[in-house]
Amino acid sequence: MQQRLAGLTVFSDAAALAEAAAIRMQEALAGRATRSAVCLSGGSTPARLYQFLATEPFLGTMPWDRVHWFWGDDRLVPREDERSNFGEAWRLLLNKAPIPPGNIHSISTNTTDPAQAAQQYETELRRFYGSETIDPARPLFDVVLMGVGHDGHTASLFPGQTQTEEMWRWAVGVPIAGAEPFVPRVSLTFPALASTRDMLFLVSGKDKRGVLTRIMDGADVPAARAYSHGSLIWLVDSDAAPENRHAA
Ligand code: 6PG
Repeated sequence: MQQRLAGLTVFSDAAALAEAAAIRMQEALAGRATRSAVCLSGGSTPARLYQFLATEPFLGTMPWDRVHWFWGDDRLVPREDERSNFGEAWRLLLNKAPIPPGNIHSISTNTTDPAQAAQQYETELRRFYGSETIDPARPLFDVVLMGVGHDGHTASLFPGQTQTEEMWRWAVGVPIAGAEPFVPRVSLTFPALASTRDMLFLVSGKDKRGVLTRIMDGADVPAARAYSHGSLIWLVDSDAAPENRHAA
């Protein structure tokens, strides 16, 4: 069951939200005759989505051989660290699906230099894309997953930090995280994240109702600044949905 609410699609619970996101990704990717690219978000919200994708019917129907996997951000911690965004996706999905190793494009996190790691990732993105500049008519990604932190950050673009203003580079180092975990990060920038056919914000849980309400009421936080050259949709569960709003 779902309802429309002021630009949000609201699902009854986190499982329904995750399944809807999996179906949406399946629809976006199955129709692509050539290679496609997914940019994964971090944090805990995508975990259920990854679990759905790693089981039937998705496991047997996704075009795994043609899909390339990227990250919107990652923390500079070892891959085995529970805080690793790569590690979470690897444990729950990438290690369970028939994905060619060359299709997995992780951020190099075994470094203490976020700027250097960002430059390295940007080089890989440009190589994959095949051009130094992004053409809005030829998106870098087919699907970009986005989350929202309690402070309104998305990817590792934090309120008040200069990386939110970056309009030329595709990836930036984030030496000081604005929210837990307080470790250095690498983040894609808004222009790189925007280069997609579909951008899906996934927001789940009562602890996100406050920030989602602020965003819907016009708060100028990074998650509200995200944009997409393709579609941009908000998929939320009823726990996270703002209260007392009329369905659209
Ligand atoms: C990160 C994430 C971040 C995340 C939000 C929501 O690396 O921190 O990419 O942007 O999406 O913080 O995280 P939760 O899903 O854990 O609430």
